[in-house]
Amino acid sequence: MIIRFADTRPPGDYALVLPIAGKDHSSLAALGGSQQATVAAALERQRFDGEGSSVSEQFISDNGSVRRLLVIGTGVGEARGEAAEKLGGATAARLQTSGEKTAVIDLTNLGYDADTAARVGLGAALRSWRYDRYRTRLKDKQKPTLGEIVIVGGGSGAAQRYEQRWAPVVEGVSLTRELVTEPANIIYPQTFVERVRESLEGSGLELEVLDRAAMEKLGMGALLGVAQGSVREARLLILKWNGSGEGGQPTALVGKGVTFDTGGISIKPAAGMEAMKWDMGGAGAVVGAMKALASRKAKANIVGICGLVENMPGGNAQRPGDVVTTMSGQTVEVINTDAEGRLVLGDAITYVQRNFKPGTIIDLATLTGAILVSLGHEWAGLFSNDEELAGKLQEAGAESGDKLWRMPLAESFDRLIDSPIADMKNVGPREGGSITAAQFIQRFVENGVKWAHIDMAGKAWSDKAAATYDKGATGYGVRLLDQYVADVLER
Ligand code: BES
Ligand code: MN
Ligand code: ZN
Repeated sequence: MIIRFADTRPPGDYALVLPIAGKDHSSLAALGGSQQATVAAALERQRFDGEGSSVSEQFISDNGSVRRLLVIGTGVGEARGEAAEKLGGATAARLQTSGEKTAVIDLTNLGYDADTAARVGLGAALRSWRYDRYRTRLKDKQKPTLGEIVIVGGGSGAAQRYEQRWAPVVEGVSLTRELVTEPANIIYPQTFVERVRESLEGSGLELEVLDRAAMEKLGMGALLGVAQGSVREARLLILKWNGSGEGGQPTALVGKGVTFDTGGISIKPAAGMEAMKWDMGGAGAVVGAMKALASRKAKANIVGICGLVENMPGGNAQRPGDVVTTMSGQTVEVINTDAEGRLVLGDAITYVQRNFKPGTIIDLATLTGAILVSLGHEWAGLFSNDEELAGKLQEAGAESGDKLWRMPLAESFDRLIDSPIADMKNVGPREGGSITAAQFIQRFVENGVKWAHIDMAGKAWSDKAAATYDKGATGYGVRLLDQYVADVLER
Protein backbone atom coordinates (compact mmCIF):
# COMPACT_ATOMS: atom_id res chain seq x y z
CA MET A 1 0.00 0.00 0.00
CA ILE A 2 1.29 3.40 -0.94
CA ILE A 3 0.69 6.00 1.76
CA ARG A 4 0.93 9.62 0.59
CA PHE A 5 0.38 12.97 2.24
CA ALA A 6 -0.90 16.01 0.39
CA ASP A 7 -2.20 19.51 1.07
CA THR A 8 -5.21 19.25 -1.19
CA ARG A 9 -7.33 16.48 -2.67
CA PRO A 10 -5.96 15.08 -5.93
CA PRO A 11 -7.95 15.27 -9.17
CA GLY A 12 -9.66 12.20 -10.58
CA ASP A 13 -11.34 9.13 -9.23
CA TYR A 14 -11.10 8.17 -5.59
CA ALA A 15 -13.19 7.26 -2.58
CA LEU A 16 -13.46 10.11 -0.12
CA VAL A 17 -13.13 9.40 3.60
CA LEU A 18 -14.34 11.95 6.13
CA PRO A 19 -13.74 11.31 9.83
CA ILE A 20 -16.34 12.39 12.34
CA ALA A 21 -15.65 12.60 16.05
CA GLY A 22 -18.89 11.61 17.76
CA LYS A 23 -21.69 14.02 16.95
CA ASP A 24 -19.33 16.75 15.73
CA HIS A 25 -20.12 17.07 12.03
CA SER A 26 -17.71 19.91 11.26
CA SER A 27 -15.56 17.82 8.90
CA LEU A 28 -18.57 17.56 6.54
CA ALA A 29 -17.84 21.18 5.66
CA ALA A 30 -15.28 19.74 3.23
CA LEU A 31 -18.27 18.74 1.05
CA GLY A 32 -19.71 22.21 0.82
CA GLY A 33 -23.23 23.50 0.29
CA SER A 34 -26.13 21.18 -0.45
CA GLN A 35 -23.97 18.02 -0.38
CA GLN A 36 -23.20 18.68 3.23
CA ALA A 37 -26.86 18.90 4.17
CA THR A 38 -27.75 15.71 2.27
CA VAL A 39 -24.96 13.68 3.83
CA ALA A 40 -25.79 14.99 7.29
CA ALA A 41 -29.42 13.97 6.80
CA ALA A 42 -28.35 10.52 5.61
CA LEU A 43 -26.19 10.06 8.71
CA GLU A 44 -29.16 11.01 10.85
CA ARG A 45 -31.38 8.43 9.07
CA GLN A 46 -28.71 5.74 9.59
CA ARG A 47 -28.49 6.63 13.28
CA PHE A 48 -24.77 7.20 12.73
CA ASP A 49 -23.23 8.38 15.99
CA GLY A 50 -19.54 8.76 15.09
CA GLU A 51 -18.45 5.99 17.44
CA GLY A 52 -14.88 4.75 16.90
CA SER A 53 -14.49 2.62 13.72
CA SER A 54 -18.18 2.96 12.74
CA VAL A 55 -18.61 3.45 9.00
CA SER A 56 -21.36 5.02 6.91
CA GLU A 57 -21.00 4.32 3.21
CA GLN A 58 -22.76 6.61 0.77
CA PHE A 59 -22.52 7.70 -2.81
CA ILE A 60 -22.55 11.38 -3.68
CA SER A 61 -22.47 13.19 -6.92
CA ASP A 62 -19.33 15.20 -7.32
CA ASN A 63 -19.01 17.48 -10.34
CA GLY A 64 -21.20 15.24 -12.41
CA SER A 65 -19.60 11.92 -11.44
CA VAL A 66 -20.45 9.46 -8.72
CA ARG A 67 -18.10 9.31 -5.79
CA ARG A 68 -18.01 6.84 -2.94
CA LEU A 69 -18.03 8.54 0.44
CA LEU A 70 -17.10 6.86 3.70
CA VAL A 71 -17.90 8.70 6.86
CA ILE A 72 -15.86 7.07 9.60
CA GLY A 73 -16.37 7.65 13.29
CA THR A 74 -13.33 8.43 15.42
CA GLY A 75 -15.20 8.39 18.71
CA VAL A 76 -14.73 10.86 21.50
CA GLY A 77 -12.37 10.80 24.42
CA GLU A 78 -10.08 8.18 22.97
CA ALA A 79 -6.32 8.80 22.81
CA ARG A 80 -5.71 10.63 19.55
CA GLY A 81 -2.97 8.37 18.24
CA GLU A 82 -5.12 5.31 18.71
CA ALA A 83 -8.18 6.93 17.15
CA ALA A 84 -6.02 7.97 14.19
CA GLU A 85 -4.73 4.43 13.65
CA LYS A 86 -8.26 3.08 13.80
CA LEU A 87 -9.37 5.61 11.18
CA GLY A 88 -6.59 4.54 8.82
CA GLY A 89 -7.27 0.89 9.59
CA ALA A 90 -11.02 1.16 9.01
CA THR A 91 -10.39 2.88 5.68
CA ALA A 92 -8.05 0.16 4.48
CA ALA A 93 -10.25 -2.70 5.70
CA ARG A 94 -13.38 -1.27 4.13
CA LEU A 95 -11.92 -0.31 0.76
CA GLN A 96 -9.23 -2.91 0.17
CA THR A 97 -11.29 -5.09 -2.17
CA SER A 98 -14.01 -2.53 -2.89
CA GLY A 99 -13.06 -1.81 -6.47
CA GLU A 100 -11.65 1.61 -5.54
CA LYS A 101 -8.00 2.15 -6.41
CA THR A 102 -7.41 5.28 -4.36
CA ALA A 103 -8.75 6.50 -1.04
CA VAL A 104 -8.45 10.08 0.13
CA ILE A 105 -8.75 10.66 3.86
CA ASP A 106 -9.55 14.32 4.42
CA LEU A 107 -8.40 15.48 7.86
CA THR A 108 -9.13 19.14 7.19
CA ASN A 109 -10.94 20.72 10.16
CA LEU A 110 -9.85 17.95 12.53
CA GLY A 111 -6.87 19.77 13.98
CA TYR A 112 -4.63 16.69 14.03
CA ASP A 113 -0.95 17.39 14.67
CA ALA A 114 1.70 15.93 12.35
CA ASP A 115 2.25 12.78 14.37
CA THR A 116 -1.46 12.04 14.71
CA ALA A 117 -1.90 12.47 10.95
CA ALA A 118 1.11 10.22 10.38
CA ARG A 119 -0.51 7.57 12.54
CA VAL A 120 -3.54 7.53 10.25
CA GLY A 121 -1.04 6.36 7.65
CA LEU A 122 0.42 3.81 10.05
CA GLY A 123 -2.99 2.30 10.79
CA ALA A 124 -3.85 2.17 7.09
CA ALA A 125 -0.57 0.53 6.09
CA LEU A 126 -0.68 -2.04 8.89
CA ARG A 127 -4.29 -2.99 8.19
CA SER A 128 -3.59 -3.37 4.45
CA TRP A 129 -1.10 -6.19 4.90
CA ARG A 130 -2.18 -9.54 3.50
CA TYR A 131 -0.46 -12.63 2.22
CA ASP A 132 -1.89 -14.19 -0.92
CA ARG A 133 1.11 -16.28 -1.99
CA TYR A 134 -0.74 -19.59 -1.80
CA ARG A 135 -4.17 -18.38 -2.84
CA THR A 136 -3.95 -19.11 -6.55
CA ARG A 137 -7.69 -19.20 -7.29
CA LEU A 138 -8.93 -15.94 -5.85
CA LYS A 139 -11.94 -14.59 -7.67
CA ASP A 140 -11.57 -11.11 -9.10
CA LYS A 141 -13.93 -9.77 -6.48
CA GLN A 142 -11.68 -11.12 -3.73
CA LYS A 143 -8.57 -9.44 -5.02
CA PRO A 144 -7.35 -6.18 -3.54
CA THR A 145 -7.91 -3.10 -5.67
CA LEU A 146 -6.88 -0.34 -3.31
CA GLY A 147 -3.31 0.66 -4.04
CA GLU A 148 -2.95 4.11 -2.58
CA ILE A 149 -4.18 6.07 0.41
CA VAL A 150 -3.75 9.83 0.30
CA ILE A 151 -3.98 11.72 3.58
CA VAL A 152 -5.00 15.32 3.09
CA GLY A 153 -4.95 18.18 5.57
CA GLY A 154 -2.58 16.62 8.09
CA GLY A 155 -0.40 19.67 8.17
CA SER A 156 3.22 20.08 7.34
CA GLY A 157 5.56 17.53 8.76
CA ALA A 158 3.12 14.62 8.62
CA ALA A 159 4.78 13.06 5.58
CA GLN A 160 8.24 13.31 7.08
CA ARG A 161 7.04 11.99 10.40
CA TYR A 162 5.47 9.00 8.67
CA GLU A 163 8.54 8.20 6.60
CA GLN A 164 10.97 8.52 9.49
CA ARG A 165 9.04 7.08 12.38
CA TRP A 166 6.30 4.79 11.10
CA ALA A 167 7.17 3.42 7.65
CA PRO A 168 10.07 1.46 9.23
CA VAL A 169 7.64 -0.01 11.77
CA VAL A 170 5.36 -1.13 8.93
CA GLU A 171 8.34 -2.86 7.29
CA GLY A 172 9.21 -4.62 10.53
CA VAL A 173 5.66 -5.72 11.31
CA SER A 174 5.20 -6.97 7.74
CA LEU A 175 8.32 -9.14 7.95
CA THR A 176 7.15 -10.60 11.27
CA ARG A 177 3.70 -11.36 9.91
CA GLU A 178 5.15 -13.03 6.85
CA LEU A 179 7.39 -15.31 8.93
CA VAL A 180 4.53 -16.14 11.30
CA THR A 181 2.10 -16.82 8.44
CA GLU A 182 4.36 -19.13 6.44
CA PRO A 183 3.75 -22.81 7.13
CA ALA A 184 6.38 -24.99 8.78
CA ASN A 185 7.25 -26.89 5.59
CA ILE A 186 8.42 -23.56 4.16
CA ILE A 187 9.88 -21.81 7.21
CA TYR A 188 12.11 -23.98 9.40
CA PRO A 189 15.35 -22.95 11.10
CA GLN A 190 17.51 -22.83 7.98
CA THR A 191 14.92 -21.11 5.78
CA PHE A 192 13.95 -18.72 8.57
CA VAL A 193 17.55 -17.50 8.49
CA GLU A 194 17.55 -17.33 4.68
CA ARG A 195 14.29 -15.37 4.52
CA VAL A 196 15.53 -12.95 7.14
CA ARG A 197 18.86 -12.54 5.37
CA GLU A 198 17.08 -11.61 2.13
CA SER A 199 14.77 -9.22 3.88
CA LEU A 200 17.56 -7.47 5.78
CA GLU A 201 19.83 -7.05 2.75
CA GLY A 202 21.19 -3.52 2.79
CA SER A 203 19.65 -2.70 6.18
CA GLY A 204 22.99 -2.20 7.88
CA LEU A 205 22.26 -5.02 10.31
CA GLU A 206 25.06 -7.48 10.90
CA LEU A 207 24.02 -11.14 10.77
CA GLU A 208 25.72 -14.11 12.37
CA VAL A 209 24.45 -17.68 12.28
CA LEU A 210 25.45 -20.66 14.42
CA ASP A 211 24.71 -24.15 13.13
CA ARG A 212 24.39 -27.33 15.15
CA ALA A 213 28.12 -28.06 15.23
CA ALA A 214 28.89 -24.59 16.54
CA MET A 215 26.23 -24.89 19.23
CA GLU A 216 27.48 -28.34 20.20
CA LYS A 217 30.93 -26.88 20.80
CA LEU A 218 29.39 -24.25 23.05
CA GLY A 219 27.54 -26.92 25.03
CA MET A 220 24.02 -25.76 24.23
CA GLY A 221 22.55 -29.11 25.24
CA ALA A 222 19.08 -27.85 26.08
CA LEU A 223 18.42 -26.10 22.76
CA LEU A 224 19.93 -29.00 20.81
CA GLY A 225 18.00 -31.54 22.86
CA VAL A 226 14.76 -30.01 21.58
CA ALA A 227 16.01 -30.02 17.99
CA GLN A 228 17.31 -33.60 17.92
CA GLY A 229 13.97 -35.19 17.08
CA SER A 230 13.76 -33.29 13.80
CA VAL A 231 15.62 -33.70 10.53
CA ARG A 232 15.64 -29.88 10.32
CA GLU A 233 18.79 -28.73 12.06
CA ALA A 234 18.75 -25.98 14.67
CA ARG A 235 20.16 -22.50 14.13
CA LEU A 236 20.99 -19.57 16.36
CA LEU A 237 20.49 -16.29 14.53
CA ILE A 238 22.25 -13.20 15.84
CA LEU A 239 21.43 -9.70 14.55
CA LYS A 240 23.54 -6.73 15.59
CA TRP A 241 22.65 -3.07 15.39
CA ASN A 242 25.13 -0.49 16.66
CA GLY A 243 23.33 2.77 16.21
CA SER A 244 24.23 4.71 19.34
CA GLY A 245 27.59 5.88 18.06
CA GLU A 246 29.08 4.95 21.42
CA GLY A 247 30.08 1.69 23.02
CA GLY A 248 28.39 0.64 26.20
CA GLN A 249 26.34 -2.40 27.12
CA PRO A 250 23.81 -3.36 24.47
CA THR A 251 20.23 -4.32 25.12
CA ALA A 252 19.46 -7.89 24.07
CA LEU A 253 16.21 -9.08 22.51
CA VAL A 254 15.80 -12.84 22.62
CA GLY A 255 13.06 -14.71 20.74
CA LYS A 256 11.65 -18.22 20.93
CA GLY A 257 11.79 -19.58 17.41
CA VAL A 258 10.15 -23.00 17.46
CA THR A 259 9.25 -23.24 13.78
CA PHE A 260 6.85 -26.07 14.59
CA ASP A 261 5.91 -27.47 17.98
CA THR A 262 4.40 -30.95 17.84
CA GLY A 263 5.17 -31.31 21.53
CA GLY A 264 7.82 -33.92 20.72
CA ILE A 265 7.38 -37.32 22.44
CA SER A 266 4.98 -35.57 24.85
CA ILE A 267 2.95 -35.07 21.69
CA LYS A 268 0.13 -32.58 21.46
CA PRO A 269 -3.45 -33.57 20.55
CA ALA A 270 -4.25 -33.40 16.82
CA ALA A 271 -6.98 -30.75 17.03
CA GLY A 272 -5.58 -27.33 16.37
CA MET A 273 -1.98 -28.45 16.15
CA GLU A 274 -1.56 -26.49 12.91
CA ALA A 275 -1.46 -23.38 15.09
CA MET A 276 1.98 -24.42 16.24
CA LYS A 277 3.47 -23.14 12.99
CA TRP A 278 3.43 -19.77 14.75
CA ASP A 279 5.39 -20.96 17.75
CA MET A 280 8.23 -18.86 16.35
CA GLY A 281 6.30 -15.63 16.98
CA GLY A 282 8.81 -14.41 19.56
CA ALA A 283 11.72 -14.82 17.14
CA GLY A 284 9.56 -13.24 14.44
CA ALA A 285 8.99 -10.20 16.66
CA VAL A 286 12.70 -9.86 17.39
CA VAL A 287 13.56 -9.96 13.70
CA GLY A 288 10.81 -7.48 12.81
CA ALA A 289 11.86 -5.10 15.56
CA MET A 290 15.49 -5.25 14.44
CA LYS A 291 14.39 -4.46 10.90
CA ALA A 292 12.34 -1.49 12.08
CA LEU A 293 15.14 -0.17 14.28
CA ALA A 294 17.74 -0.45 11.53
CA SER A 295 15.42 1.04 8.97
CA ARG A 296 14.88 4.14 11.07
CA LYS A 297 18.52 4.22 12.17
CA ALA A 298 17.71 4.03 15.86
CA LYS A 299 20.35 5.57 18.09
CA ALA A 300 20.82 2.54 20.28
CA ASN A 301 22.93 -0.61 20.52
CA ILE A 302 20.78 -3.70 20.25
CA VAL A 303 21.49 -7.35 19.71
CA GLY A 304 18.72 -9.70 18.61
CA ILE A 305 18.97 -13.46 19.18
CA CYS A 306 16.64 -16.10 17.77
CA GLY A 307 16.76 -19.68 19.00
CA LEU A 308 15.46 -21.65 16.02
CA VAL A 309 14.42 -25.29 16.32
CA GLU A 310 11.70 -27.67 15.24
CA ASN A 311 10.18 -29.80 18.04
CA MET A 312 9.42 -33.22 16.51
CA PRO A 313 8.94 -36.75 17.87
CA GLY A 314 11.54 -38.48 15.66
CA GLY A 315 13.49 -41.65 16.38
CA ASN A 316 16.26 -39.58 17.89
CA ALA A 317 13.92 -37.30 19.85
CA GLN A 318 14.62 -36.65 23.50
CA ARG A 319 12.54 -38.60 25.98
CA PRO A 320 10.70 -37.54 29.11
CA GLY A 321 13.17 -38.06 31.94
CA ASP A 322 16.25 -37.24 29.87
CA VAL A 323 18.77 -34.98 31.58
CA VAL A 324 20.47 -32.34 29.45
CA THR A 325 23.35 -30.02 30.27
CA THR A 326 22.82 -26.40 29.31
CA MET A 327 25.45 -23.93 28.14
CA SER A 328 25.32 -22.38 31.63
CA GLY A 329 26.47 -25.69 33.11
CA GLN A 330 23.17 -26.21 34.89
CA THR A 331 21.42 -29.52 34.25
CA VAL A 332 17.75 -29.99 33.41
CA GLU A 333 15.50 -33.00 33.76
CA VAL A 334 13.15 -32.90 30.77
CA ILE A 335 9.87 -34.05 32.30
CA ASN A 336 7.75 -32.89 29.36
CA THR A 337 9.21 -32.48 25.89
CA ASP A 338 6.39 -30.04 25.08
CA ALA A 339 7.86 -27.50 27.52
CA GLU A 340 10.55 -26.85 24.92
CA GLY A 341 10.54 -23.07 24.58
CA ARG A 342 12.17 -22.50 27.96
CA LEU A 343 14.93 -24.98 27.04
CA VAL A 344 15.67 -23.00 23.89
CA LEU A 345 15.55 -19.64 25.67
CA GLY A 346 17.79 -20.75 28.53
CA ASP A 347 20.69 -21.51 26.21
CA ALA A 348 20.02 -18.45 24.01
CA ILE A 349 20.12 -16.22 27.09
CA THR A 350 23.38 -17.75 28.30
CA TYR A 351 24.86 -17.26 24.85
CA VAL A 352 23.96 -13.59 24.68
CA GLN A 353 25.30 -12.92 28.18
CA ARG A 354 28.62 -14.63 27.48
CA ASN A 355 29.14 -12.92 24.14
CA PHE A 356 27.57 -9.47 24.45
CA LYS A 357 27.40 -8.59 28.17
CA PRO A 358 23.98 -6.92 27.81
CA GLY A 359 22.76 -4.73 30.66
CA THR A 360 19.15 -5.61 29.83
CA ILE A 361 17.59 -8.70 28.28
CA ILE A 362 14.03 -8.81 26.98
CA ASP A 363 12.83 -12.20 25.82
CA LEU A 364 9.64 -12.85 23.86
CA ALA A 365 8.00 -16.24 23.52
CA THR A 366 4.76 -18.01 22.73
CA LEU A 367 5.62 -19.93 25.86
CA THR A 368 2.57 -21.26 27.67
CA GLY A 369 -1.06 -22.11 27.09
CA ALA A 370 -1.52 -21.06 30.72
CA ILE A 371 -1.03 -17.38 29.85
CA LEU A 372 -4.14 -17.64 27.66
CA VAL A 373 -6.04 -18.93 30.66
CA SER A 374 -4.82 -15.93 32.68
CA LEU A 375 -4.99 -13.07 30.19
CA GLY A 376 -6.89 -14.30 27.14
CA HIS A 377 -6.04 -12.60 23.87
CA GLU A 378 -5.89 -8.99 25.04
CA TRP A 379 -2.70 -8.78 27.07
CA ALA A 380 0.63 -10.53 26.91
CA GLY A 381 2.17 -11.49 30.25
CA LEU A 382 5.16 -9.57 31.56
CA PHE A 383 7.61 -10.97 34.10
CA SER A 384 10.60 -8.97 35.26
CA ASN A 385 13.29 -8.78 37.93
CA ASP A 386 13.41 -4.98 37.62
CA GLU A 387 10.65 -2.52 38.50
CA GLU A 388 11.85 0.26 36.23
CA LEU A 389 12.24 -2.00 33.20
CA ALA A 390 8.80 -3.48 33.80
CA GLY A 391 7.27 -0.01 34.09
CA LYS A 392 8.91 1.24 30.91
CA LEU A 393 7.80 -1.82 28.98
CA GLN A 394 4.24 -1.43 30.18
CA GLU A 395 4.30 2.21 29.10
CA ALA A 396 5.61 1.24 25.68
CA GLY A 397 2.88 -1.37 25.54
CA ALA A 398 0.16 1.16 26.24
CA GLU A 399 1.54 3.64 23.70
CA SER A 400 1.97 1.06 20.95
CA GLY A 401 -1.12 -1.03 21.60
CA ASP A 402 1.01 -4.14 22.27
CA LYS A 403 -0.31 -4.37 25.81
CA LEU A 404 1.44 -6.03 28.75
CA TRP A 405 0.10 -7.20 32.09
CA ARG A 406 2.58 -7.72 34.90
CA MET A 407 2.73 -11.17 36.47
CA PRO A 408 4.57 -12.19 39.64
CA LEU A 409 7.86 -13.97 40.22
CA ALA A 410 8.74 -15.44 43.61
CA GLU A 411 11.09 -17.84 45.35
CA SER A 412 8.13 -20.04 46.29
CA PHE A 413 7.36 -20.58 42.59
CA ASP A 414 11.03 -21.21 41.85
CA ARG A 415 11.11 -24.09 44.31
CA LEU A 416 8.43 -25.87 42.29
CA ILE A 417 10.89 -26.64 39.49
CA ASP A 418 13.56 -28.28 41.66
CA SER A 419 14.37 -31.79 40.41
CA PRO A 420 15.46 -34.82 42.42
CA ILE A 421 17.99 -35.83 39.76
CA ALA A 422 19.17 -32.58 38.16
CA ASP A 423 19.44 -28.88 38.99
CA MET A 424 15.91 -28.25 37.79
CA LYS A 425 13.07 -29.82 35.84
CA ASN A 426 11.42 -28.17 32.87
CA VAL A 427 7.86 -28.15 34.22
CA GLY A 428 6.16 -27.40 37.51
CA PRO A 429 2.60 -28.24 38.51
CA ARG A 430 -0.32 -27.22 36.30
CA GLU A 431 -1.21 -24.30 38.52
CA GLY A 432 0.76 -21.14 37.80
CA GLY A 433 2.20 -22.69 34.65
CA SER A 434 3.23 -19.37 33.09
CA ILE A 435 5.00 -18.33 36.27
CA THR A 436 7.04 -21.49 36.75
CA ALA A 437 8.01 -21.21 33.07
CA ALA A 438 9.28 -17.68 33.75
CA GLN A 439 11.10 -18.89 36.89
CA PHE A 440 12.84 -21.48 34.74
CA ILE A 441 14.10 -18.80 32.36
CA GLN A 442 15.18 -16.61 35.26
CA ARG A 443 17.59 -19.32 36.39
CA PHE A 444 19.66 -18.47 33.31
CA VAL A 445 19.79 -14.74 33.96
CA GLU A 446 23.13 -13.78 35.51
CA ASN A 447 23.59 -11.49 38.51
CA GLY A 448 23.09 -7.80 37.82
CA VAL A 449 21.35 -8.26 34.47
CA LYS A 450 17.96 -6.60 34.14
CA TRP A 451 15.56 -9.00 32.53
CA ALA A 452 12.01 -9.08 31.28
CA HIS A 453 10.16 -12.05 29.86
CA ILE A 454 7.11 -11.59 27.66
CA ASP A 455 4.76 -14.55 27.27
CA MET A 456 2.87 -13.71 24.08
CA ALA A 457 1.17 -17.06 23.41
CA GLY A 458 -2.21 -15.29 23.22
CA LYS A 459 -1.02 -12.51 20.94
CA ALA A 460 0.99 -13.78 17.96
CA TRP A 461 -2.10 -14.91 16.09
CA SER A 462 -5.68 -13.68 16.08
CA ASP A 463 -8.80 -15.50 15.00
CA LYS A 464 -10.52 -12.20 14.38
CA ALA A 465 -9.67 -8.95 12.67
CA ALA A 466 -8.86 -5.82 14.68
CA ALA A 467 -8.13 -2.16 13.94
CA THR A 468 -4.61 -2.67 12.59
CA TYR A 469 -4.60 -6.30 11.51
CA ASP A 470 -6.78 -8.81 9.74
CA LYS A 471 -7.28 -12.26 11.23
CA GLY A 472 -4.04 -14.21 11.27
CA ALA A 473 -0.56 -13.04 12.19
CA THR A 474 -0.67 -9.83 14.24
CA GLY A 475 2.99 -8.84 14.31
CA TYR A 476 2.74 -8.47 18.08
CA GLY A 477 5.94 -7.33 19.77
CA VAL A 478 7.49 -5.29 16.97
CA ARG A 479 5.80 -2.04 17.93
CA LEU A 480 6.33 -2.75 21.61
CA LEU A 481 10.08 -3.17 21.23
CA ASP A 482 10.39 -0.28 18.81
CA GLN A 483 8.54 2.00 21.22
CA TYR A 484 10.59 0.81 24.19
CA VAL A 485 13.82 1.61 22.34
CA ALA A 486 12.49 5.03 21.30
CA ASP A 487 11.32 5.89 24.84
CA VAL A 488 14.19 4.50 26.87
CA LEU A 489 17.34 4.01 24.81
CA GLU A 490 17.17 6.89 22.37
CA ARG A 491 16.92 9.72 24.84
N1 BES B 1 4.11 -23.42 22.28
C1 BES B 1 3.47 -23.93 23.42
C2 BES B 1 2.59 -22.89 24.12
C3 BES B 1 1.39 -22.42 23.38
C4 BES B 1 0.17 -23.01 23.59
C5 BES B 1 1.46 -21.34 22.52
C6 BES B 1 -0.95 -22.55 22.93
C7 BES B 1 0.33 -20.89 21.87
C8 BES B 1 -0.87 -21.47 22.07
C9 BES B 1 4.49 -24.41 24.44
O1 BES B 1 5.66 -24.93 23.90
C10 BES B 1 3.86 -25.51 25.20
O2 BES B 1 3.58 -26.52 24.63
N2 BES B 1 3.65 -25.30 26.49
C11 BES B 1 3.03 -26.25 27.32
C12 BES B 1 3.81 -26.33 28.60
C13 BES B 1 3.41 -27.48 29.49
C14 BES B 1 3.83 -28.78 28.86
C15 BES B 1 4.06 -27.30 30.84
C16 BES B 1 1.60 -25.81 27.57
O3 BES B 1 1.37 -24.62 27.72
O4 BES B 1 0.73 -26.66 27.58
MN1 MN C 1 5.49 -26.99 23.44
ZN1 ZN D 1 6.17 -24.24 22.05
